[in-house]
Amino acid sequence: MKRYKALAVTIKTADEIEKMRVAGKLAAQVLDMIGEHVVKGATTEQLNQLCHNYIVDVQGGIPAPLNYGRPPFPKSICTSVNHVICHGIPSDKKLKDGDIVNIDVTVIKDGYHGDTSKMFVVGKPSILAERLIRITQECLYKGIEIVKPGARLGDIGHVIQTHAHKHNYSVVQEYCGHGIGATFHEDPQIVHYGQPNTGDEIVAGMCFTIEPMINAGKRYSKILPDQWTVVTKDRSLSAQWEHTLLVTETGVEILTHRDDETIPRIINHS
Ligand code: MF3
Ligand code: CO
Ligand code: CO
Repeated sequence: MKRYKALAVTIKTADEIEKMRVAGKLAAQVLDMIGEHVVKGATTEQLNQLCHNYIVDVQGGIPAPLNYGRPPFPKSICTSVNHVICHGIPSDKKLKDGDIVNIDVTVIKDGYHGDTSKMFVVGKPSILAERLIRITQECLYKGIEIVKPGARLGDIGHVIQTHAHKHNYSVVQEYCGHGIGATFHEDPQIVHYGQPNTGDEIVAGMCFTIEPMINAGKRYSKILPDQWTVVTKDRSLSAQWEHTLLVTETGVEILTHRDDETIPRIINHS
């Protein structure tokens, strides 16, 4: 028997879109704030504290990761260092020269979520690490650039996969982007691999993240005994960048856009 998957994609109202813009902007501002603190000798727990206090005290928001899931995630941000793919738990371990760190921030404001992550480097990164970080950001941007009503979800995965493979990198398959709104993770799933002209159609008013995880080695991952930290099986370096997007009538708006980016905040294809 054929199985039909019920897709519960929510289309945002004008009112919800305004709240998503606010939440997205706040999440982006946390990444702007934390950059100068990502230095040799700092601990990821110190970064967690700074982000937590900023979100709660300055922004009047809620850090969505804190107590999220099962077992409850114990911190307010994810910090994923070197071969950690995602969901790294802030700890008292000190950052050292050459480390690469993904900081993933999700802010809830007025009931709506903004979810974004960025790569930081401690001191001077290796040429290889720098290249992985750059190509991974290009993967995110290429995914964003094809988002518009009528395009299909497989198109996003396809451009990301093609760019990663061209540079001999692999794409993590077990974790993906997601719809987002009043719920942190909602339909649809946005996988970062796939074939053009497949998958569900993209519709104006959808909000979702694209957040490719790209490995310098093989794609395989495993979860550490803490039940959260995801690492590369072969211990190769991994990078990730994430934005929360709104599909507009003519293209896409990057709700978590920062001023330090080369991609515009609004892409209009008409
Ligand atoms: N921010 C992550 C994402 O992009 C999810 C983190 S869940 C947590 O979807 F519990 F680990 F924080
Ligand atoms: Co996300
Ligand atoms: Co995230």
